[in-house]
Amino acid sequence: MPILLTVLSVSLITTTLAVLVVISDRFLNNYGECQLDINDGDRVLTVTGGSSLLSSLALNKIFIPSACGGKATCGLCKVKLASESGPVLPTEEPYLTDEEMAEGIRLSCQLKVKENLTLFIPEELFRVQQFKATVTKITQQTHDIMEYRLSLVDPSEIEFKAGQYMQIDSKPYGSIRESVNRAYSIASLPSDNNGIELIVRLVPGGVCTTYMHEHLKEGDSVTIRGPFGDFYLHDGADELIFIAGGSGLAPIKSMVFDILEKKLDKKMTFFFGAVTKKDLYYVDLFTELAEKHDNFHYVPALSGPEEFDDWQGEVGLVTDVVDRYVQDAANMQGYLCGSPGMINACIKVLVKLGLSEDRIYFDKF
Ligand SMILES: Cc1cc2nc3c(=O)[nH]c(=O)nc-3n(C[C@H](O)[C@H](O)[C@H](O)COP(=O)(O)OP(=O)(O)OC[C@H]3O[C@@H](n4cnc5c(N)ncnc54)[C@H](O)[C@@H]3O)c2cc1C
Ligand code: FES
Repeated sequence: MPILLTVLSVSLITTTLAVLVVISDRFLNNYGECQLDINDGDRVLTVTGGSSLLSSLALNKIFIPSACGGKATCGLCKVKLASESGPVLPTEEPYLTDEEMAEGIRLSCQLKVKENLTLFIPEELFRVQQFKATVTKITQQTHDIMEYRLSLVDPSEIEFKAGQYMQIDSKPYGSIRESVNRAYSIASLPSDNNGIELIVRLVPGGVCTTYMHEHLKEGDSVTIRGPFGDFYLHDGADELIFIAGGSGLAPIKSMVFDILEKKLDKKMTFFFGAVTKKDLYYVDLFTELAEKHDNFHYVPALSGPEEFDDWQGEVGLVTDVVDRYVQDAANMQGYLCGSPGMINACIKVLVKLGLSEDRIYFDKF
């Protein structure tokens, strides 16, 4: 009997507390309607206060870059505020420099709209669209990398620069009850504008990559947004070095094919770093491309080939291979895509070879 009474009192207290939280949330966090004044009055939105700036803008079809779905782990959702927006949160601090904080830059996923705000959004973000697409082809490329062909349904055409990325929404599965969104670089050509290709490496335990590798099937519908990002070809050099590892090959593939299709007068070398032969993909595709085009050179390198790999190509870390191949990088540009560790090491080598850091462009993931 005393046990039953204890259980009953505990559940009564818990229920009362839950009701109080709901009531206080309804009344204390009722910020009413707030106005978002964008780019000196170019657009004025009326939104219901209480949500993040990122989601308030998305509800109005203004899509700010985001690769983590608002978890404060990507730092891509920066927005410049001209009005007072309260103190920067500890979750934002790792992604903002002192200068950015002084300029009023905030992570829009962390900033709750509680009052009228004045902000600036770069014009190109107004061109970002949300698309309904159908998965038309899934191809296994390696033991942990899949390629997805998505056909655009509504709208049915996209305009993007080679190197940019899209966001995709996952759907709930198993114990994952919520949809998340993540960033994936476009691997296909801008001229192929009725669809896009994505290359996705499985992150063990990762919410979106598990959804894509194990649950997404040909014929399924998906929601994607984009294009985002400033990792694309810049003017100013006739000789380009591309370096990629893993799924970092995706934006580089789009760039190389785009340059060749447009017949731009550029000399290109593409270094692809992997561990063993089972991590290599698109080898035939790039080998044939190099045979066809004198201005394109392809160097796949393995850092730890297995004996049975019977590997005849370059051996070593991709950084060492670049160091061996390139004599003087001063007049080149570097385009790098892969893990943060690989990119940081590649930047060091390229700088050592004479390339200044402002001519090195990268996407780290
Ligand atoms: C601009 C941009 C472009 C991108 N393009 C691509 C692309 O073309 N192809 C692609 O496969 N990925 C790409 N990514 C990475 C992608 O957005 C996801 O972060 C990644 O797929 C993991 O998502 P997830 O939901 O499966 O893992 P989550 O559920 O987010 O993470 C699960 C766990 O794995 C860790 N983790 C997350 N990512 C990695 C990783 N890459 N390696 C090791 N551990 C990790 C997390 O810290 C977490 O602990 C890109 C990211 C950015 C920012
Ligand atoms: S959306 Fe990733 S940090 Fe804000």
